[in-house]
Amino acid sequence: MKYFIGNWKMFGIPRSIKIIDRINNFSNRDKKNNKKYKAIIAPPHTLLQDFSRKFKNKKVSICAQNCFEKDRFGAYTGSVSAFMIKKIGINYVIIGHSENRAYGENDSIIKEKIFTALKNNLNIIFCIGEDKNQKRKKLTLKVLKKQITKVLKRNYNLKKIIIAYEPVWSIGTGKIPKPAELQKILILLKKFLKSHFKTRYNFKILYGGSVDSKNIDNFKLMKELDGFLIGGASKSSKKFIDIIKKFYK
Ligand code: 13P
Repeated sequence: MKYFIGNWKMFGIPRSIKIIDRINNFSNRDKKNNKKYKAIIAPPHTLLQDFSRKFKNKKVSICAQNCFEKDRFGAYTGSVSAFMIKKIGINYVIIGHSENRAYGENDSIIKEKIFTALKNNLNIIFCIGEDKNQKRKKLTLKVLKKQITKVLKRNYNLKKIIIAYEPVWSIGTGKIPKPAELQKILILLKKFLKSHFKTRYNFKILYGGSVDSKNIDNFKLMKELDGFLIGGASKSSKKFIDIIKKFYK
């Protein structure tokens, strides 16, 4: 099963619900392929409760873009906890996005966020990725391994964690990794995850960064790839649906 997850970032108002409606209708009609994938959309916090209600038990699921690192309630102005997200019927949360890391979210905060999200039984889209400099210095795998081992523990319910590999240099730039390079990273990372966590569980890894319907063919043959985290192209139902259509063509 592949995931097509749309991250709207700081975009979206109440009437943007029609974008999700169209994706949901498409997925319902797409009888030939709709069992092969799961479409999920992550709107901003302001829309979560309303959208979560409207898409309860529907083909498309709703995901939160972030949660605060402390559990339940507290004097944390402007913050939303994993507990509060779960309570409005949401089952997914994105954690560790590079745009938040750029604003000071470090491994220890991400570790707390993952801990509280797991405690509240959320499925986590855990973002990792190297920046341009690290890539140039051929540090990619080292960086990814560190980002993982600093926050995930062996005794966690690892099946609740979906890794999203998002190279920072590819987000919003139109650049994507060379297929052979990405394939190699996926294979080595999956191998590493199994040995580090002493498990036979085949971790799910998504790719994110400039995915659109024009470049989706590059990813078609990668059997190690479990789906996509899509930014810009998820704000238009047509673009998002075109990605799925082309992927299964
Ligand atoms: P773009 O698809 O706009 O490059 O964004 C990717 C991303 O950051 C998804 O989380």
